Amino acid sequence: MEKWWWFLALLLLIAIPTEAGINVGGGVGVNVGPIGGGGVWIGGGINNGNGNPPVPSGSSPSGLERAFTALQAWKSAISDDPSKILDSWVGPNVCSYKGVFCSPDSQEVTGIDLNHANLKGNLVQELSLLSQLSLIHLNSNRFSGQIPETLRDLTALQELDLSNNDFSGSFPTVTLQIPNLIYLDLRYNSFSGTIPGELFNQKLDAIFLNNNNFEGEIPESLGNSQASVINFANNQFTGNLPASFGFMGTKLKEILFLNNQLTGCIPEGVGIFTDVKVFDASHNSLMGHLPDTISCLEEIEVLNLAHNELSGVLPDLVCSLKSLENLTVAYNFFSGFSQECTKLPDRNVWFDFSLNCIPGRNMQRPQPECSLIPGGGLNCLRIPGSKPLVCGSRYPSSSP
Ligand SMILES: *[C@@H]1O[C@H](CO)[C@@H](O)[C@H](O)[C@H]1NC(C)=O
Repeated sequence: MEKWWWFLALLLLIAIPTEAGINVGGGVGVNVGPIGGGGVWIGGGINNGNGNPPVPSGSSPSGLERAFTALQAWKSAISDDPSKILDSWVGPNVCSYKGVFCSPDSQEVTGIDLNHANLKGNLVQELSLLSQLSLIHLNSNRFSGQIPETLRDLTALQELDLSNNDFSGSFPTVTLQIPNLIYLDLRYNSFSGTIPGELFNQKLDAIFLNNNNFEGEIPESLGNSQASVINFANNQFTGNLPASFGFMGTKLKEILFLNNQLTGCIPEGVGIFTDVKVFDASHNSLMGHLPDTISCLEEIEVLNLAHNELSGVLPDLVCSLKSLENLTVAYNFFSGFSQECTKLPDRNVWFDFSLNCIPGRNMQRPQPECSLIPGGGLNCLRIPGSKPLVCGSRYPSSSP
């Protein structure tokens, strides 16, 4: 989280509260909750101080002249501007346009921050004229139509936030060709279809796909991702959790699969090489026993597996994870939990095991539901004969 604040602060030399700054790396609720409360609209760019138009320089247009062309083309593709923000987009002094931010020397446009501007319209291919642009924040507008292919020419672009707009159609593959992009936010649109495997071969640090209509399997290339936060929540992804999930490296801090249609077992490799803090696979149809390798999630703070069809005994391996703050396994078919799990409340860990099949506990499923465990025949066990893969570093047990 700090990283993004620093990034923005450095880039704009002023701190602007934006969705990007607030939401990345935050708690689970922050990243999946509805957008709207976060950002504060701050109008006005950095003025170049003298109020004069940019000085024309010979034959080739200056950065600001090209920016003027780009922004006027964009303005004419915007059909509704209820807050009259674009009234300030007149004349050659583009650095004084609301939502447009320039480099400290006022020679180049480096940022566009129109979060919560409620503009309706399209993006235009002329945006690629803003060659020094490093961020585009368009959260909470009504942009629709194509993402122009020319955006691939924005070699300085690091952050692209298109969240909470009216974009639809297939995954915008042009975003994979923007060479230095590190923050890609497509959440709260109506994108559909499958997601390309190349998405996880980029150097993206944050990938937000949640609250769209994406479907199909999550590509196995997920394991190649260098991202610290990935959000797949609230789509229609199907198939298994990719087995590569355990091999994502220590950058991964937060991964959310919640509310999709994922099936099968939680892969054996889960967490072997990750330092993930938030893992939420709730509201899917995952089945079978938890793999012992869950004990490798040494940094896990929030583990939410609620509303699945998981079964077996919740093992000490899970309940003794040393960084746990919230373990939610409600609405599954667990048939019991072990000793360490009973100590969770003493450790101030939130532990919700309601609506399982745990004998002698309150708030469990009615017995008839527990007589036929879904996926009971499903073999989630490790390769027969191999030793269980178990990591160390558990919460120190008080019992001998
Ligand atoms: C723990 O996580 C669950 C599921 O996300 C949430 O409903 C609950 O409020 C969380 N508890 C705390 C104390 O944060």
